[in-house]
Amino acid sequence: LAPEHVTLVEMAPRDGLQNEKRLVDTKDKIHLVDLLSDCGYQRIEVTSFVSPKWVPQMADASAVMAGIKRRPGTRYAALTPNMQGFDAALAAKADEVAIFASASETFSQKNINCSIAESIERFRPVAEACRASAVPLRGYVSCVVECPYEGAIAPESAAQVAAALMVLGCYEISLGDTIGRGTPEAVDAMLAAVLAHVPAEQLAGHFHDTSGRALDNIGVALERGLRVFDASAGGLGGCPYAPGAAGNVDTLDVNAFVIGRGFSTGLDAARLEDAAAFARSLRSAG
Ligand code: HMG
Ligand code: MG
Repeated sequence: LAPEHVTLVEMAPRDGLQNEKRLVDTKDKIHLVDLLSDCGYQRIEVTSFVSPKWVPQMADASAVMAGIKRRPGTRYAALTPNMQGFDAALAAKADEVAIFASASETFSQKNINCSIAESIERFRPVAEACRASAVPLRGYVSCVVECPYEGAIAPESAAQVAAALMVLGCYEISLGDTIGRGTPEAVDAMLAAVLAHVPAEQLAGHFHDTSGRALDNIGVALERGLRVFDASAGGLGGCPYAPGAAGNVDTLDVNAFVIGRGFSTGLDAARLEDAAAFARSLRSAG
């Protein structure tokens, strides 16, 4: 029997680098994406088409997209918070775009400068434009278990936002433990609530590893039927609007973890080591 497939979505160029204080050279970002492409990913999140005043590190989004080599079989994705971002992403030939909402009102205000309800309205034209251009649309829900400003988040809050993003037409919802403080118990309760609205086949887990629980949380999500996980080569990452958030869980760790549980990922672990080493070299000291 062939092992069941788990898809790892690579985050290092986007979530990994967005929080770096030092501006990383565009050519280094392109090199990182090219190294990652050689690993055999189905999906790499390359950049964000967001306001450069909010996230200066992503200001070169169009140049990065223009510079990367496109491996057949890999989808190159970008974050698009509004129509301005979507239009730029489409011009840059993003294969997939993502909208990002939050289960926490305060985090929504801090991260995208609007309420949760306003964000859903702002995403509606993006979703319509995706349909019109046949661009796959992913949705994120941040702070699904913990918020840096509000503390514990009710599972039903995460479920409601996930359901709203599904209604907009997202093919997949990525559930973000943005600050990596989720316990396996809290993640399990959150997943139970979300699964009442969204099937496991349309969910992804996005765990930051601040408390060293990300792999345990992935274990819980695997038990709940999730088969897509976001991870960052070299463990880079964090969100500028989520103080205290450490990086995404390291792709190498997730790869070894899921393979240890009998799944396959299709990734080349040796090439992944090289990409992770290069990703770590881009991180500023201290
Ligand atoms: P705003 O200030 O309310 O926007 O920000 P605005 O529409 O009033 O525009 C203000 C200025 O921004 C204007 O420029 C616009 O042109 C410009 P000005 O006239 O002042 O020169 N602008 C843009 N420029 C480029 N691309 C755009 C764009 N939109 C407006 N798309 C906005 C609202 C959403 C734009 C802002 O808050 C923003 O960019 N936020 C992004 C924050 C972000 O990227 N956070 C990190 C990603 S989310 C994350 O990391 C979590 C995740 O990993 C999952 C998890 O871990 O939970 C996904
Ligand atoms: Mg994140």
